Amino acid sequence: MAAQIIDGKEVAKITYKQIKARTAALREQGIIPGLTVIIVGENPASQTYVASKEKRALKLGWNGQVIRLPENATQQELCEVIKTLNLDDSVDGILVQLPLPKHINELEVLKCIDPEKDVDGFHIVNSGKLFAGLESFVPCTPKGIMKLIDSTGVEIEGKNAVVIGRSLIVGKPAFLLLSARNATVTLCHSKTENLAEFTRSADIVVAAIGKPNFVTADMIKPGAVVIDVGINRLPDGQLCGDVDFESVKEVAGHLTPVPGGVGQMTIAMLMENTVISAEARLAGRDRKTDASVLDGTRHKA
Ligand code: GUN
Repeated sequence: MAAQIIDGKEVAKITYKQIKARTAALREQGIIPGLTVIIVGENPASQTYVASKEKRALKLGWNGQVIRLPENATQQELCEVIKTLNLDDSVDGILVQLPLPKHINELEVLKCIDPEKDVDGFHIVNSGKLFAGLESFVPCTPKGIMKLIDSTGVEIEGKNAVVIGRSLIVGKPAFLLLSARNATVTLCHSKTENLAEFTRSADIVVAAIGKPNFVTADMIKPGAVVIDVGINRLPDGQLCGDVDFESVKEVAGHLTPVPGGVGQMTIAMLMENTVISAEARLAGRDRKTDASVLDGTRHKA
């Protein structure tokens, strides 16, 4: 039987409805969520992603702004911009679009962001908290993946899950989130031998390896939930995922399309993280007598 197609657009729509209600509640308290995205250089894919993030923030009636720095901006210049935003109370979320130009050390830049405004969840304080099972900003794409799996109604606990790809943005956090939900998780990657042996025993497969149509039907257990994180461009200009959609849909139980699956969720989760941060701003207002907040020490983490 053909797989049920997971509709990312529909799941994202439900999320936006919830975010709108939370935004209205914040507005009543005089808070307008603020999201600032920083982009360095002219990477065309990044320009598109950043424009979509700004558009969505503005559509929600938020303070959305994009700061564009030239390709030759220095790491120090970038960190200075971030530090100013850390201190700006109207900014709830700061996102530095990746990848950065090669002369800039990404991890060092991410460390400059106030962890409390790190709506991407890439600061080492937030990755550390996720690792330790503490509350933190969760990276947007894996957070969206979990919502998509939950939308199928399939129970995660006790299941075998395979994540293909070990990036900071998707693979590693997806591993941790599935593990926190009591799945038995195997993290596979480009050097894994006999990859198909792992995927064939998986009830849940998350493909984030960046290779077009890499996961084929013979690698999938009948009825499995298959989440395709890939966004690849074929030589003829067509967009495709890491999963061979046409063959896998005949075997899987649930499958995300590309486009229209995970991609829809990433920005929705960014907006959810930003609204969480704005709510924390509101809660924090009552605690302004706390000296550590006033003297800015919380920004040194
Ligand atoms: N580049 C590709 N995906 C992402 C993401 O989720 N966040 C940021 N900051 N950059 C990205």
